[in-house]
Amino acid sequence: MILNEIKKRLPLGFKIWIKTRKFLPQALKDKLLVRWFLLWEKTGKLKYLKRLRIIIGIQLTVKQLEAILTQFKQKTDCKLLVFGLGNDSLLWLTANRAGQTVFLEGHQAWFNEFKSRHPEWLAYRVSYETKLRDWKTWLNQPDKLTLDLKPEIHQTPWDIILVDGPIGYGDDAPGRMKSIYTASQLINQGGDIFVHDCEREVEQVYCDTFLLPKNLVKEMTNLRHYRG
Ligand SMILES: C[S@@+](CC[C@H](N)C(=O)[O-])C[C@H]1O[C@@H](n2cnc3c(N)ncnc32)[C@H](O)[C@@H]1O
Repeated sequence: MILNEIKKRLPLGFKIWIKTRKFLPQALKDKLLVRWFLLWEKTGKLKYLKRLRIIIGIQLTVKQLEAILTQFKQKTDCKLLVFGLGNDSLLWLTANRAGQTVFLEGHQAWFNEFKSRHPEWLAYRVSYETKLRDWKTWLNQPDKLTLDLKPEIHQTPWDIILVDGPIGYGDDAPGRMKSIYTASQLINQGGDIFVHDCEREVEQVYCDTFLLPKNLVKEMTNLRHYRG
């Protein structure tokens, strides 16, 4: 009811824009993403992040995007590690164009899709070997929670880590137990960790256990920001 009322009141141009966004070619969406991100970077105006989020189909809210993106302005030669490939991946690459960005993805078909579209991206397929339904058991075995990664990923002091993967809903999903624990191990001292989907119990418990409440900088609805 309320949603329908809101939809009715939207300007016509905006309605057409929302309806057609799914049919825009990926190359055009990518161009718009970069253009609007650069305009946000230059002006700080949230309207550019709003547009970008709608047209690209990003789940993070505008305020959450702003909180993460602002961190890049404060770092030089930033090393960024992202758990999960998604519609927002190009945004992170653009925000960190002066630094180094690595993506880790657990879903084979999803990984293949991105790799074929962007073979130049530094993206690695990882094997989580966990099931969400066992999250309580894994909590007591932190020695088994470290992901098997290339040595250079373990050796890099990461300045920003985004945990937005792997899939964390449904009993058979891998869950974010290993990505949250591994983030706690790989973050540079003073670095920033962002964990999305913290409305869920597993994300909350693993963050509280391994990233620790004393390191929590801010909570923006379901996004938590920790300092390493
Ligand atoms: C929760 S999504 C993050 C979405 C991202 N924040 C965005 O706005 O695009 C992250 C994980 O979900 C999984 N995933 C998302 N969409 C998928 C799809 N269409 N097919 C397969 N896996 C998908 C992938 O494993 C990915 O690492």
